Amino acid sequence: MKLWIDKCYCINETFESLLDQARSANLTLNQLADQAGCGLHCGWCVAYLRRGLQTGETGFDYLLPKEPLELPEVE
Ligand code: FES
Repeated sequence: MKLWIDKCYCINETFESLLDQARSANLTLNQLADQAGCGLHCGWCVAYLRRGLQTGETGFDYLLPKEPLELPEVE
């Protein structure tokens, strides 16, 4: 079975749609989560949304480690 991850399963919204929403309104990941509700339930999609905002990817055939919405500041 091929791995393909392309949506927040908790709100049943594709990364493509969520990332379009973020780009069109110039939202950060946290702002997107507040508006759309993605990442606020199980949190499994956070790492993929963060990666998608950085790279433009909307589908992933690899696993990413789970990340919190707010990353600790690096000094
Ligand atoms: S998959 Fe996005 S919060 Fe659960």
